[in-house]
This record gives sequence, structure tokens and C-alpha cells, in this order.
Amino acid sequence: MVAGAVAEQGLVIAQGLRYVNAWKGKTVVVKFGGSVLDANGGGTLVQDLVLLKGAGIHPVLVHGGGPEITRVLERLGKESTFVQGLRVTDAETMDVVEMVLAGRTNKAIVSMIIREGGQAVGLSGKDGRMLVARKYRGDVDLGQVGEVHEVHPELVLQLSAQGYIPVVASLGIGEDGMSYNLNADTAAGALAVAVGAGKFVLLTDVPGVYRDYDGTRELISELRAADVAALIEDGTVSRGMLPKINACLAAGTMLVP
Ligand SMILES: Nc1ncnc2c1ncn2[C@@H]1O[C@H](COP(=O)(O)OP(=O)(O)OP(=O)(O)O)[C@@H](O)[C@H]1O
Ligand SMILES: [Mg+2]
Repeated sequence: MVAGAVAEQGLVIAQGLRYVNAWKGKTVVVKFGGSVLDANGGGTLVQDLVLLKGAGIHPVLVHGGGPEITRVLERLGKESTFVQGLRVTDAETMDVVEMVLAGRTNKAIVSMIIREGGQAVGLSGKDGRMLVARKYRGDVDLGQVGEVHEVHPELVLQLSAQGYIPVVASLGIGEDGMSYNLNADTAAGALAVAVGAGKFVLLTDVPGVYRDYDGTRELISELRAADVAALIEDGTVSRGMLPKINACLAAGTMLVP
């Protein structure tokens, strides 16, 4: 019995080492939703990132902060409005988005990583013109919601190579220096492509894409790119899941594992 358990442990370690060897030196972009940080304080997830870094794999963290932004806006007596999963962002909302994302959430994650024995540097997409944005142009005017126009990943790559885990808040900078509110999934997908990530992982408050989200909730365990359009069309993928799926599609066509 004891010998069996030891053999099993050995197997797990051997499998783990094979995985680590295959991924050594590669970059993995991980996106945390604000809700993930809310749910468990991000503790175990941050531990895993520090372990990966120690094993020679390079995680780059991109985060959102939706629920916290909504709470702060509520305290200021401002209601949040979303159109297709994107927060309508007037100038006052933009100030709050920037304060919460770059000031509070970003530095809280940096603190967690340091507490777990890792090294982290917190940045926003404005730093080093990492995420150059333009105003998002959809059917409705969403204010300072931006779309990623250019990505300059040099800063992230340099920090990563120096042993830091870069932590990126999803803000963009306009050509004129203006701040843009970027959906964190979209920002993470664009960064994953630019750093040549081997993997792109999105962590949120649901286990995956559900069929009939508002009803029986049946988890779709595997989803092929060719089947996505139909799920968007029939409304299965909506709200916060929409930018996630689109980011996966964009990154999936570009990433080379
Ligand atoms: N088919 C679906 N399956 C699962 N979740 C869905 C589906 N359609 C819409 N959603 C919504 O997507 C949400 C996840 O996206 P959301 O934007 O709320 O979180 P996040 O992206 O992790 O956080 P943040 O926006 O702060 O970065 C789920 O909580 C759910 O309400
Ligand atoms: Mg979201």
C-alpha cells in the first residue's frame, strides 16, 4: 500500500518534470478577472504562478477589475452600463477605472506575488506604450473604451527575462497620451500574440462556456474555432464571455506552441 502510494507520487513528479521541461523558457500569458481576485483573494493562483516562474516558465499576468470598479462607482453614485460586455466609459468613469486598476488591483497582485516569495513589477498598458489604443468604434458610443492598435512588448519581455513576473493592468494609451479603458481579455490576447506566448489562459468566475447559461448550464468542455460564430449568433456566448471568446480566437490563430 505504502509502496504503491510512493510509486504513484513518483509518477506524478515524473509527469510534472516532463511538463516543466517542455515549457521551460516559454512565456505563458494568464488573465485574471476581477471576480477571480474577489472569490479567493487570488492566493493559490498566485502561488502557482510563483512556482511556474521558479521552474523556468515565464508567466505574464494581465488583470481586469470589473467588480471593484463597479463598487467604487456605486459609492460615487454612478451606475455602470455595459454594452456587449464592455463598460461605457465617460471621463469620470475613466478616472475611476485607472485608479482602481492601476492603483489598487495591480499593486494588490504585486503584493500577493511578493508575499509568496516571487518578484513582480506592476505596469499598466500605458507604460512603455505597451498597449497603444484607439477609440473603439461600434454601433454605440462607448466613450473612452479603446481597442488595441499596437503592442510594444519589450518592457514585459525584459522584466520577464530579469526574473520578474510582469503584472499588467488593462489600460491603453492613445497617440495623444489619452487613457483608454481596454477590456482585459482583449488586452491579454493582444499581448499574448506580441510576446509569442506558448499558452494563453483566461481565469474567470465560471468554469468555462456554458450552453444555456441562464438555465440548465451545461458546460461545453471543448470548443472549436469553427463552431464559435454559431454560439455568438444564437446568444449562447454573450456579455463578459464575448470578449473572452474573441480574444481566444485572435490569439489562437497566432500562437505557436
Ligand atoms: N455562455 C456563457 N458561459 C459562461 N459565462 C457566460 C456565458 N455568457 C455570458 N457569461 C458571463 O461571462 C462572465 C465572465 O465575464 P466577466 O467579464 O464578468 O468576468 P472577467 O472577465 O473574469 O472579469 P473582468 O471583466 O473584471 O476582467 C460570467 O460570469 C457570465 O456572467
Ligand atoms: Mg470581463
